[in-house]
Amino acid sequence: MNLVLLGAPGAGKGTQAEILKEKLAIPTISTGNILREAVKNETKLGLEAKGYMDSGKLVPDALVISIIKERLAKDDCKNGFILDGFPRTIPQAEALEESGVVIDRAVEIAVSDEAILARLSGRRVCIKCGAPYHIVSCPPPADNICPKCGGEIITRKDDLPETIKSRLEVYHSQTEPIKGFYEERGKLSVVPGEGGIENTSRAILEALGV
Ligand code: AP5
Repeated sequence: MNLVLLGAPGAGKGTQAEILKEKLAIPTISTGNILREAVKNETKLGLEAKGYMDSGKLVPDALVISIIKERLAKDDCKNGFILDGFPRTIPQAEALEESGVVIDRAVEIAVSDEAILARLSGRRVCIKCGAPYHIVSCPPPADNICPKCGGEIITRKDDLPETIKSRLEVYHSQTEPIKGFYEERGKLSVVPGEGGIENTSRAILEALGV
C-alpha cells in the first residue's frame, strides 16, 4: 500500500507513521527527518535547507522532489511506503503523480490550530531516529535517551512559538489545498486527530480497511 499522511505541523503524522510502519510492514519516509539529518551532517542539501526550516518556511520543491524520487526508487519501497510530510505543495503532488507513483490513499489527520500550538510547544524528538515524544501525552525518559535507538531527545529549533505560527500559516496557504487534489481522485480520508494517539491509529486503520 502506498500511503500519504496529511495534516498540519504537529497533527501527529510522525507519531502515526511510526505505529503504521510496524502494523503494515512498510517503510516510513519523512522528508522532515531526511532534511534534519542533512542539516545535522552539514551536507550541501542540509546547508541549503537549514534557513528555510529554521524559519518555518518550505524548502524549494525541486530539492524535495529529487530527494523523494531517489528514496522511492530503493528496494524497500517495492511493497509500499508511508509518506510523512510529502507532498506539501500542489507541484509536489503533481510531480509524484507524473513520475508514475500511484498513491492508494491519502489520510488527513485533522487537528485544530489551538491544539497544534499546545502540542508543538511540548514536543521533544530523538535527534537520531526522529521518534516523537511529548512532555504530557508521551513523555520521554528522565535521562532523555531514546529507548528505540539510544539517541539524544531534544526540542526542535522550529518548535518555538513564533515559528509554529509561521508554519501553520504556510500549512494553510500551501499544503491544505492538497486535500482537494486527493479528494478529486477519490483517495482522501479524514480522521480526527484529537482523541488520543491510539484512537487516531484505529481511525486510520479503519479508513485503510485493514
Ligand atoms: P516536518 O518534520 O515534516 O514537520 P511538520 O509537518 O511541521 O510536522 P511535524 O513533524 O512538526 O509534526 P507531525 O505531524 O509529524 O506531529 P508529531 O507526530 O511529531 O518538516 C519540518 C520542516 O522541513 C518544514 O517546516 C519544511 O521546512 C521542511 N520540509 C519537510 N518536508 C517538506 C516538503 N515536502 N517540502 C518542503 N519543505 C519540507 O506530533 C506532534 C506532537 O504531538 C508530539 O509531541 C506527539 O507526541 C504529540 N501527539 C501526536 N499525536 C497526538 C495525539 N493524538 N494526542 C496528543 N498528542 C499527540
